[in-house]
Amino acid sequence: MKKLFVIGSAVLLLFFGTYPFLKSTELGSCVAYALGSFLEVAQDPSARFLGKVHEDTARCRGGDDAAKWRATPWVDWQRYRATGGEESRSTGLTSKLGFLSPNTRGITGALLDMEYQRIELLQFNLFDNHGTFEAYVRGRNGTPGPSLKAWPQLRLPLGHPAYGAVGGDGPQQCQGELIRFRNLTGICNDILNPLMGSTDQPFGRNVRFEATFPDLGKNEMAINRHGDRLGLLKPDPQVISRKLFSRLQQPGSNCNAGYGSPDHVPEAHCDYQKAPVLNVLAAFWIQFMTHDWFSHLEEGRNQPELMSMGCSTRIFNGSQSPLTAQEVKQLGCRPEDRVDRSLIAADQPAATFTQENKQHLVRAHKTTLNRVTAWWDASQIYGYNDRSRKRVKRDPRDPAKLALEPSNLRGEAGAEYLPLLQTADYANSQWSGQESVAFPDNWNVGLSFFHNIFAWEHNIFVDAFRKQAAVTPDEDSGLRNPLRPSAIIRYTDVTDEDLFEVTRLVVAAEIAKIHTLEWTPQLLYNEPAYLGMNANWSGLASKNKLAASALEQLLVRLAKSPGANARAWYSAFAAGPGIFGLGNQQPDVNGGVNHFGSPFNFPEEFVTVYRLHPLVPDLFELRDLRTDPNVIRSKIPVVETVRGKATQALRQHGLANWGISMGRQRLGLLTLQNSPAFLQNLSVPRLGSSTGRIDVAALDIIRDRERGVPRFNEFRRQYGLKQLTSFDDFIDPRLRQDSAERAEQQRLVGVLREVYKQHRCDESKIITTAQLNDDGSKINDCLGHPNGSMVDNIEDVDVVVGMLAEFTRPHGFAISETQFQVFILNASRRLFSDRFFTSSFRPEFYTKLGVKWVNENGPDGKVMEKGKPNGHEMEVSPLKRVLLRTIPELKTELDSVVNVFDPWARDRGHYYSLQWKPRPGAVTDPAFKNR
Ligand code: HEM
Repeated sequence: MKKLFVIGSAVLLLFFGTYPFLKSTELGSCVAYALGSFLEVAQDPSARFLGKVHEDTARCRGGDDAAKWRATPWVDWQRYRATGGEESRSTGLTSKLGFLSPNTRGITGALLDMEYQRIELLQFNLFDNHGTFEAYVRGRNGTPGPSLKAWPQLRLPLGHPAYGAVGGDGPQQCQGELIRFRNLTGICNDILNPLMGSTDQPFGRNVRFEATFPDLGKNEMAINRHGDRLGLLKPDPQVISRKLFSRLQQPGSNCNAGYGSPDHVPEAHCDYQKAPVLNVLAAFWIQFMTHDWFSHLEEGRNQPELMSMGCSTRIFNGSQSPLTAQEVKQLGCRPEDRVDRSLIAADQPAATFTQENKQHLVRAHKTTLNRVTAWWDASQIYGYNDRSRKRVKRDPRDPAKLALEPSNLRGEAGAEYLPLLQTADYANSQWSGQESVAFPDNWNVGLSFFHNIFAWEHNIFVDAFRKQAAVTPDEDSGLRNPLRPSAIIRYTDVTDEDLFEVTRLVVAAEIAKIHTLEWTPQLLYNEPAYLGMNANWSGLASKNKLAASALEQLLVRLAKSPGANARAWYSAFAAGPGIFGLGNQQPDVNGGVNHFGSPFNFPEEFVTVYRLHPLVPDLFELRDLRTDPNVIRSKIPVVETVRGKATQALRQHGLANWGISMGRQRLGLLTLQNSPAFLQNLSVPRLGSSTGRIDVAALDIIRDRERGVPRFNEFRRQYGLKQLTSFDDFIDPRLRQDSAERAEQQRLVGVLREVYKQHRCDESKIITTAQLNDDGSKINDCLGHPNGSMVDNIEDVDVVVGMLAEFTRPHGFAISETQFQVFILNASRRLFSDRFFTSSFRPEFYTKLGVKWVNENGPDGKVMEKGKPNGHEMEVSPLKRVLLRTIPELKTELDSVVNVFDPWARDRGHYYSLQWKPRPGAVTDPAFKNR
């Protein structure tokens, strides 16, 4: 491809014979780019790529717009051709040039940039908290750290029930029953590292341990960066919440602090800014996912001790001063709110070691534990320890199935729902009256919807398997017992327990597929992200010529790069066949996993970027499918559908009505001043505090501070993104000077400055070792501003605030580029590391029917979508297939839906358009009036 490219460009040049003249044009830049040296994989974090390319490269991929964009802090690829909507595509003759066309250059360029980011992230951002970091840096017995595959810290401890079975105090390796299915606590996913990813293991980090807990001022950099301006309640989290997170309500909107109107009249109104391409189902889907991946809380609780949540100080003249009663009233915050402190696993001083004259901490200053399995194993449904497993109720008539019980609330025949929790099954009184599921915390009707849907899906698979077994009882089911691998297990031999566990594998894989191929491409609504996510799952090369050519370019470049190492190669190669199913043709059932030298768990920073509370509206717009779905019948406050009330609400209105209601309603934009009011005023009686309430938006900030997440600017530097040098950098440079949008962003930047303030800078203070200035000098407190001038306290901004303030985003991105950077690394790692998504995705574990079900999105073979949405032939999406199976009443409504997370009943129009028109039959829906 590169050869073609060079030859093509040279021919054109000869034809014009005007290379010097063309140098600053797109064509000239392409020639210079094609002839120039390749971008090398950095050997040191200070030489990272930062999402920024050479000027010629940028111009070749996106013209002058992209070349100019290099002066901003934001990643370059978002200005390349064809990475936005229709307007970003070049048309006319050049667009017909195939590999040489500007659109291809843009998209392959974006894919290359993302893959470079991933390689660098794998190289520089893995910090394990189990105690393995020293081996990662030093290596072991001649093997370099990043190539290590097993760690003594990941052995089962003496006293663990499976200690003997894995080898006791000798070499430990999982085998037999322990490797057949996903184990309850997540042990033995990796056969060589039994403890990896299991319940109660420490969260890792993606930032250097030295950069964690800046509030503690443990090193000179942290002190230089923040002075004495930081603390758990500094700047005041409730003040931040009220000033920077509160949704602005029009006067008389009767929002009532998010508690709406008691009679649920459709006229009730709580303003919120809506995202263009995502619906409310997408908000609760991601909460449903996070409950599978991580939790800091144990049975919904933290430490018993309560602490203040702020609403007490503001910064005045560079120091904290108490808020007056008048200010408290104006802000609407509550000084008496109390919340329980975070659980901490280790807080004694961390040991250090020295390697090549550089001192390293062996772990972060404090550590916390992930209380659920880190694997994508549907543990929120199936459990992660004994207590949570007791909440998973089986159908007594068929123990392979989950229990579902009829509910007469709607007087419907045949409607069945998850049964309610039994008092003995939980320790948290707050959960009383909820459905019995493994992870019941922060329960609401959205979670209830998805838990019920997947309980149905589980049972539908069991039925399909039993049907097959009845037809072909003596045929090979595909399943094997590792103790007798050559012995065929016939359909008739599969036990109830085997079938339950097989179904768990299938449902977990379906969920992972929905998330990777359906939720994420809608969250990041543009072509490179669509191709990138498909590549993660099922590979580039076989599917898409564009993506395949990007991969080819990358491989050629890597081969020539002196920085190429095993990790880089592996990551790039894996993007070829895809990560899912990687190595499943080899005899070794563990051979396809790759942890890149650092045991898998999510990092603390991953939790931070999933603090997505602004997605949630204050009021649900409830519809009735049978009468007229274009009418909003009532506005139900979300807060009246939390905890036990969720269960009532789901049963009262039924799955189909909740499906269409959440499917048509748009979710909240992830931006400043757009957090739900009800979460700022959430009642939490279990705390027994005098207000009985907490501000969850303020708590998002407090928790990150308790857990030592670096502040926004250092967070970006650590992740290989460019720093900001003032609050003004947040303003989207694409906006016209006189636009209303720019004025609004300027207003919000003003509020940021008012909250976080400024200080007089001192250029003698070096503030980071993560990066250098463009001229190679060290980054200092003045961030390029004159010494002694007043500079914004941009270094103090909390990550949750900074990511919402990123108004400048790639086209169609509901999240910020900072959050995306965290996903690039961890979203692929949770696939790379999981045996059941790589080498053990095979019939021996999933059965033949299970493999087919996951690959083809259910029974009935592959089903294709009509037309070519965004230019792609697409299969009917996996979640649409699940909904069609579980709520067949939605068929007519779903006919025109391509991606279940795209607001329903809309005709999306052309190439990644953020606009829509109502589909025929939905024109009268009032939701379309308010854009
Ligand atoms: C009705 C809806 C919701 C309620 C009532 C709710 C409530 C809460 C509360 C009270 C906490 C704090 C727990 C603590 O640290 O003590 C929390 C944490 C969190 N929430 Fe939500 N939430 C809701 C929706 C969502 C959604 C849609 C997301 C999207 C991903 C989300 C993501 C998170 C995350 C990532 C945490 C941190 C969990 C951890 O520390 O392990 N929440 N939520």
